[in-house]
Amino acid sequence: MTKLNKKFAVLGHPISHSLSPKIHQYFASQFGINLDYQRIDVESTNFKKTLSDLKQEGYEGLNITLPLKNLAYEICDELSLRAEQAKSVNTISIKNDKLLGDTTDGLGLITDLLIKNISLANKKILVIGAGGASNGVMFDLISQHPQAIFLTNRTITKSHDMAEYWASLAKDNDVLLNILSLKEDITFDLIINATSSSLGNGSVIFPENLKGYFWYDMMYGKQTPFLLKAEQNKAKFSDGLGMLVEQAAAAFNIWHHQKPDTKSIYEIL
Ligand SMILES: NC(=O)c1ccc[n+]([C@@H]2O[C@H](COP(=O)([O-])OP(=O)(O)OC[C@H]3O[C@@H](n4cnc5c(N)ncnc54)[C@H](OP(=O)(O)O)[C@@H]3O)[C@@H](O)[C@H]2O)c1
Repeated sequence: MTKLNKKFAVLGHPISHSLSPKIHQYFASQFGINLDYQRIDVESTNFKKTLSDLKQEGYEGLNITLPLKNLAYEICDELSLRAEQAKSVNTISIKNDKLLGDTTDGLGLITDLLIKNISLANKKILVIGAGGASNGVMFDLISQHPQAIFLTNRTITKSHDMAEYWASLAKDNDVLLNILSLKEDITFDLIINATSSSLGNGSVIFPENLKGYFWYDMMYGKQTPFLLKAEQNKAKFSDGLGMLVEQAAAAFNIWHHQKPDTKSIYEIL
């Protein structure tokens, strides 16, 4: 008797560029798991209905990407602590007719940084951006006990809202949470670009004269103005491909209870 493929998918809009099917198929091949992993283009207006349809069709797990992560957080029946705090869901498990939401973006970032020998304990971090991606990784950043996290964003009021939202968790973990002030002269251990500034053709608005030892752009697949700045500063830097791979590995582990080898995937991607 042939074994039926387990059904999974990534949902977002647009979605044609998503590397998730390739990554998950590769991970599944490491364990002899037969996977049917689809890309499904869904707009916010159809999201709830699509989730319900996929549940009926026997899907076991879904990855959620832009612009649906916050909506997924609102729709899921149950949430992990991470997802609840981040108000973001990128991984849904479907069990007993229920949608169980989790987020692995923060784990993906931290794991990739650790692979690159960047530890965060007692370090000074700057996070640029105050959207879904930056808020999505704050729980895990704070959990690493850095000395301080500075926040900045093109619309600075959003950084203030973000600081207020994360203040209590930061305090509980003895992490100083500050808004970047242009008067301060700080060399950060790590600067994270969590903005979508490199997606558009418009001007990129960042603080001037940033100084940092390691620059990390969550964006991947192209030379960004942020990474160019890092290069000009003779700093070490990385794009976000490793974060993508590691968040996928964490999602794979949630669904299949297996930790895939991630080192060998970069040649394929
Ligand atoms: N590698 C990965 O696995 C991974 C995972 C998640 C996200 N990401 C990437 O992270 C990025 C952000 O995603 P998101 O979900 O946070 O998007 P989002 O919620 O739409 O937030 C966008 C952020 O970018 C800022 N921004 C947009 N254009 C800008 C510009 N020209 N100059 C300066 N700041 C600008 C926005 O500032 P305002 O508030 O002023 O509008 C906001 O803070 C995307 O590029 C996404 O691909 C990567």
